[in-house]
Amino acid sequence: MCGIVGILGARPVAGELVEALKRLEYRGYDSAGVATLESGRLIRRRAQGKLRNLEILLSEAPLKGLIGIGHTRWATHGRPNETNAHPHANGSVAVVHNGIIENFRELREGLRARGHNFQTETDSEVVAHLVADEMQTGKGPVAAVAAALPQLRGAFALAFLFDGQDDLLIGARRGSPLAVGWGEGEQQGEMYLGSDALALAPFTSEIAYLEEGDWVVLTRGGAEFHDASGAIVQRARVRSQASAFLVDKGEHRHFMAKEIHEQPEVVGRTLAHYLDMSAGKVRLPFDLPFDANALSRITLTACGTAYYAGLVARYWFERFARISVDIDVASEFRYREAPLPERGLAIVVSQSGETADTLASLRYAKDNGQHCLAVVNVPTSTIARESSVVAPTLAGPEIGVASTKAFTCQLAVLACLAIAFGRARGVLDEKEEARLVGDLIALPGLMAKALLEEPAIEQVAHGLAHARSALYLGRGVSFPLALEGALKLKEISYIHAEGYAAGELKHGPIALIDEDMPVIVIAPKDATIEKTVSNMQEVAARGGRIVLVGDAAAREEAAVALAGAIDMAPMAPDFTPIVYAVPAQLIAYHAAVFMGKDVDQPRNLAKSVTVE
Ligand code: M6R
Repeated sequence: MCGIVGILGARPVAGELVEALKRLEYRGYDSAGVATLESGRLIRRRAQGKLRNLEILLSEAPLKGLIGIGHTRWATHGRPNETNAHPHANGSVAVVHNGIIENFRELREGLRARGHNFQTETDSEVVAHLVADEMQTGKGPVAAVAAALPQLRGAFALAFLFDGQDDLLIGARRGSPLAVGWGEGEQQGEMYLGSDALALAPFTSEIAYLEEGDWVVLTRGGAEFHDASGAIVQRARVRSQASAFLVDKGEHRHFMAKEIHEQPEVVGRTLAHYLDMSAGKVRLPFDLPFDANALSRITLTACGTAYYAGLVARYWFERFARISVDIDVASEFRYREAPLPERGLAIVVSQSGETADTLASLRYAKDNGQHCLAVVNVPTSTIARESSVVAPTLAGPEIGVASTKAFTCQLAVLACLAIAFGRARGVLDEKEEARLVGDLIALPGLMAKALLEEPAIEQVAHGLAHARSALYLGRGVSFPLALEGALKLKEISYIHAEGYAAGELKHGPIALIDEDMPVIVIAPKDATIEKTVSNMQEVAARGGRIVLVGDAAAREEAAVALAGAIDMAPMAPDFTPIVYAVPAQLIAYHAAVFMGKDVDQPRNLAKSVTVE
């Protein structure tokens, strides 16, 4: 989704604004822009498409202002063209916005009636006019923003720059994250605004996050925070770890490739955080503020890939802890108005910790008396801050829009939780725990082995690149992975793909099978293999092209002609999705690269979906 930066500097800031915006590219965008003050006057440069276009514009017509705001736009209202690109400005104020202003139509009508001319199709432009309108009544910029904010409905992060004010930036947050940074070293005295700490990492690691409803006034003298009521408040300054993370592709062509290859390391790091490996036990790195033995039910919600991690975890919680799990996509969950039980635990799963629907689910669960636990990758995120327990995934920043390492780390954390609950509830004994922990410890090595299969996976992927559509099948814990494999393929290669429970094939999708339909079967040798093999025979009998992702025993069992096979090492059956995720991700990656697609920033997608 949109990215915001603001710099109150001592040198021309346009170049630094673009550099900071590059660190927000991963969120997904379709146009970009900056505004600075040139001799005190507001000037903008905006361009459709990639930041490169904005850089070209700036090299042709440089900006020298020492203060500025910048934006990457992911279109919600209005086409992704230059006119609709942010910053939006009128004579007195420029604004950048992330989120949706829900009452923009009624505000726009009122402002039009008072003589304001609108240039764009966006909801965001109304904010610039609203603040300008307040200023026309004689208010200064700070008072005008303070008067405008309560008139806005919806979710937003905003940054304002004012004509004639070369020592003032204002930021505001309701629903979408915003961070303030204090310049350090050579940048001492400079102040920054950013959608996340990652954007500000080259300038500073001293950060404060705006709380919900906050707005902040920045001058070169520092930051003055206000809460929603306007009262001055203090917000803690923390050391961000973001600068410790190298946000580059290393030796890889794409962030997605780098993140796929990092998995043995980050899954290992995450497991080490949750396991006492020598004792063969799970040791949760936090205290549970509830008795796992007394839980009546788990309600799991998440979106996209994180939801599929939850679907896998349902098998684990039900199998290892004998606790029933209700799971739903977060975008639907709260509309069901589901009754939630006493002594219930709500688990939300999110890489970014900012997904609007997941956050809304968390709030619904809290309002309905649930214990709330968040499995998140960004520890400073809103979801982390609003949950009573945070179970961190230690994946490090995930830049590729397609989630890969965050997924496998989510699975690792959820597996540890399920085992811990199983022990607490007396379902697993010490020996069973030690066996499962042993299986978990083996995972990073097995993932590294799976990565060695990349040349064979690439061949399979090239075969898929000509398909119009593909089916992914799996049973048991491999079923959610089939869904995830299909999501990966469609989001980065734009090949239509569907995941199905293998047993569902006969209930409809078998009608699609012909010689042009690749069917990727995720089938480790486990208790369900015989039944999955029957489904493969049904596909083969109808001429479907089967690609088997499985071990030697599964291949032997299959006994059908295969269009392709990806060899997996034999492993204990419970945690296969964590290892089999690797070929599923690499199939999608190599198909998309072969087809020349923009793997890290696929069309229409945003990394962090902060609108509903
Ligand atoms: O940040 P979150 O984990 O809450 O994001 C949830 C989904 O938007 C995300 O997993 C999405 O489905 C990915 N693009 C999938 O690769």
